[in-house]
Amino acid sequence: MKILLALSILFSTHFFLSAEDKPKEDDKMPPALTHYLGREIAQTMHYTGAPWLVRESREREEECSTLMKCLHFKPGMVVCDMGCGNGFYTHKIAPLVMPAGKVLAVDIQPEMLELLNKRAEAAKETNIETILGTLVDPKLPAGKVDLVLCVDVYHEFDHPVEMLAAIRKCLAPGGRMVLVEFRAEDPKVPIKKLHRMSKEQLLKEIPANGFKLVEQFDKLPWQHVRFFEKDTP
Ligand SMILES: C[S@@+](CC[C@H](N)C(=O)[O-])C[C@H]1O[C@@H](n2cnc3c(N)ncnc32)[C@H](O)[C@@H]1O
Repeated sequence: MKILLALSILFSTHFFLSAEDKPKEDDKMPPALTHYLGREIAQTMHYTGAPWLVRESREREEECSTLMKCLHFKPGMVVCDMGCGNGFYTHKIAPLVMPAGKVLAVDIQPEMLELLNKRAEAAKETNIETILGTLVDPKLPAGKVDLVLCVDVYHEFDHPVEMLAAIRKCLAPGGRMVLVEFRAEDPKVPIKKLHRMSKEQLLKEIPANGFKLVEQFDKLPWQHVRFFEKDTP
């Protein structure tokens, strides 16, 4: 019952960014898409919904620690938490890549990054860099990122082609992008349809943008985990 209440709150309309609230598209930006390869693109989750991302039940519902284990973080890695929100995963990753590694936490909502920074300051975390991205450019250093983690984010990209090209560009040799998406094909996953993706749809969209599937992890209760590398160097 509590879960249903939390989800109905999250998915009520004011928890999504309206067109006016979204970062402005400049003249050079292609127009935002509403659909991509047969899938309707979801609205962006609004920062006022951030408490849902750090809810006490998240570990039980999504088994976040199982996801963390399958990502094999190591000291020294440069990791991007793409669409980091208020930093639920950023804060878990930062200590695992210490001392030489860092987390580049990217989001398009400055308010999300402020929430993340407040917590990083309180915890004296020094290896987190927040980056305010645009709808087409996460402003990442070229060829330097070992792992780009996108948890519950990709389905919100309204410029998926540009974002995937930018992610491709930032990857270090052997670097990976990991997409974690709520399963569209599973009726037991209590998330609205637009915020879920099927395995089939992921494989329609991601390899079409210069990536190959290299690994998959299917042991989370609600989500697909798909690992991709560049299909050519
Ligand atoms: C549902 S939240 C997930 C947050 C976080 N990954 C987590 O699992 O706790 C999706 C986040 O992606 C961000 N986002 C959407 N489009 C983006 C883009 N093009 N670049 C960077 N962040 C984006 C939103 O602002 C929002 O904070």
